[in-house]
Order: sequence, then C-alpha cells, then structure tokens
Amino acid sequence: MKTYILGSESSCDDTSAAVLKNNKILANIIANQEVHRKYGGVVPELASRAHQQHIIPVVDEALKKAGIEKQQLSAISFTRGPGLLGSLLVGTSFSKSFALSLNIPLIEVDHMQAHILAHFIQQDELEKDTPNFPFLCLTISGGHTQIVRVDTYRNMTVIGKTIDDAAGEAFDKAAKIMGLPYPGGPEIDKLAKKGDPDKYKFPKPRMPEFDYSFSGLKTSFLYFIRDGLKNNPDFIQLNINDLCASIQKVIIDTLMDKLILASQQTGINEIAIAGGVSANSEIRNRLIETGTNKGWKVYIPEFQFTTDNAAMIAIAGYYKYLNNEFSDQRVVPYARSIV
Ligand code: KG4
Ligand code: ZN
Repeated sequence: MKTYILGSESSCDDTSAAVLKNNKILANIIANQEVHRKYGGVVPELASRAHQQHIIPVVDEALKKAGIEKQQLSAISFTRGPGLLGSLLVGTSFSKSFALSLNIPLIEVDHMQAHILAHFIQQDELEKDTPNFPFLCLTISGGHTQIVRVDTYRNMTVIGKTIDDAAGEAFDKAAKIMGLPYPGGPEIDKLAKKGDPDKYKFPKPRMPEFDYSFSGLKTSFLYFIRDGLKNNPDFIQLNINDLCASIQKVIIDTLMDKLILASQQTGINEIAIAGGVSANSEIRNRLIETGTNKGWKVYIPEFQFTTDNAAMIAIAGYYKYLNNEFSDQRVVPYARSIV
C-alpha cells in the first residue's frame, strides 16, 4: 500500500514541511528564521509571525519536490507539542484546515518522540540499519534533555531528564556569555575543534539516577569568565578555542556518564542519540568510542534529521497512521509534552 504523509513542524523557530511515501522521504523543506539572531535567542512573538509567512510556501515546495498532488496525500501530521504556543498554533491551524479541506485524517505528533523516530526515516532503496527495540535514546535539544527507553514506535518512557536547563541551552548560554552568535551550539562545536578540552575544569553536576542539571554549570562558567576578564579584558578572545573545548567537554561528559549508567542498569545495549545537540561532532565521536568500549550498537542520526525538521513529524505520523490513531478538529496545541 502506498501512503503519502505530509508532516509540518512549527514548534520553535524553524518552519518545515516534509512528504514521506510510507517510511521513505520524498521531500524535507526547512525555512530557518534569521530574525532571532540579533536578539541572541528566539523571540516567541517574532517566531509565530515568521511561521505564518513561511508555512504555505514550505508546504507548497515540499509537495512540488515530492512530485505529488495534494489530492494524493493520505494524512496530515503536525507537531502539537511541546513548543512555543504561538508557533505551534500556526502549524496546528494550518494542518487542521488542510486535512479538513482534503477530507483526510489529521494526526498530532509529540515533537520529542518525533526526534527519536527520525532514526526510522529511510532515504533510498538500500534500507539503512535502524535501532532494535528496546533501545535507549539520549534526546538532546534546545528545550529538552532526556534519556528515553523506547519499547515500540509508540511506547516510550522517559527514564531520566534535566531538572532545569537543557543541554542545548547550556551550549547556547555559554556561547552567549562568550559573545558568540545564536544558536551557540554549532559555534562552540566549530571553535572547540581547535581548542584543548582539558585546559579549564568545570564542576560536573551531581544528580540522582539518570537525571541532569545544567544551570549550575552555566553559573560557574559565568563567574569563571567574569574573573578572567577582571585580570585580562582580552581573556575571551585569547582563549576562545580552549574555552569552547572545555565547556563542551563537561557538557558531553555529563551526558555520557548518565547514558552509560542507564545502559548498565537497564541492560540495554542498543543506544541512539537524537535532537539538535546530536549534531555535535564531539558527542558523535564519544558515542562511537564508548559504544566500541562497552559493546553497544550505536545509532547516530543524519545531520538533516538532528535539528528540527518535518520529516521526523511525518515518520511519527506514519506509525500513528498505521495504527489508525487520528485527531479530530477540536485538537489544540499544547506547550508541554502531549504523551
Ligand atoms: O532540536 P533542536 O533543533 O530544537 C529544539 O527542539 O530545541 O535543537 C536546537 C539546539 C540548540 O540549542 C542548538 O545550539 C543545538 O541544538 N545544536 C548544537 C549543535 N547544533 C545544534 N549543539 C551543539 N553542537 C552542535 N553542532
Ligand atoms: Zn527539536
């Protein structure tokens, strides 16, 4: 059976639309919002206005790239939450209207589950290796940091999470302290390649079980930079590469420690990473290295499926479609997790 699913994503600052034919990607169009750069972070009101401008053109482009007519679509899936409410409203309203006008099912998707399910998107005839159930997924984004036990496409349990800042936020806030542009994660990743990760030591947060905390790290980094600048006003410029490498190291060490513990305690050796921070080159290296040492089978998403994209929303929608899990026209967006 041929199923065509349109996915739309508008939870934060990327407007995206994608088309999948069963589990195979035909198109994944992303419009980034440059407007936030000069503010050093996402401005919610500006984000929802930009989604409003982008949503129709990205859907149009996705259908064209996929080479299908809208009448061929089997269902419309969209991000219902978590995210910024004004941003989610745009994708939700669009998807409700589109599904209604085409008289096809509407499918709500949880953004964090979709990040994980991105591992199941296939691209060409040669099927890639996908995680075997149950697996653990370290889901690391700008808004969330979770260790998730994934038992089926639909059955997932968060076994560890951050109690304050997300890993992406830790990257972004450290970058902001150093005067680097938003989003800071990719900037730190780039500069860290030229730096010494052992030059500066920052305390690793101590949290019970598989939970995380990153807000203390941000504060100690802020004080460390403040003291450095007192002694030398050029402290940041002179040491930027080492600062990036050192802060990146402590964030990744923290993430990996809990992931190792979770694997030990659950006995699960199928390990995946997902979300925007999984684009980080060092965490990718560390996962492969740790996997080799611990006998894990590791799964690293392709770059295009790490940061926010609609292909992940469409694949999550596809598995719900197979299960006849549809939403009705009364559905409203939700700022928090919908599962
Ligand atoms: O998943 P995502 O696109 O959006 C949310 O759902 O939040 O993640 C965005 C986050 C930002 O904090 C960004 O700085 C971070 O992912 N990020 C990175 C890298 N690329 C994106 N962090 C570290 N290294 C990267 N290469
Ligand atoms: Zn995301």
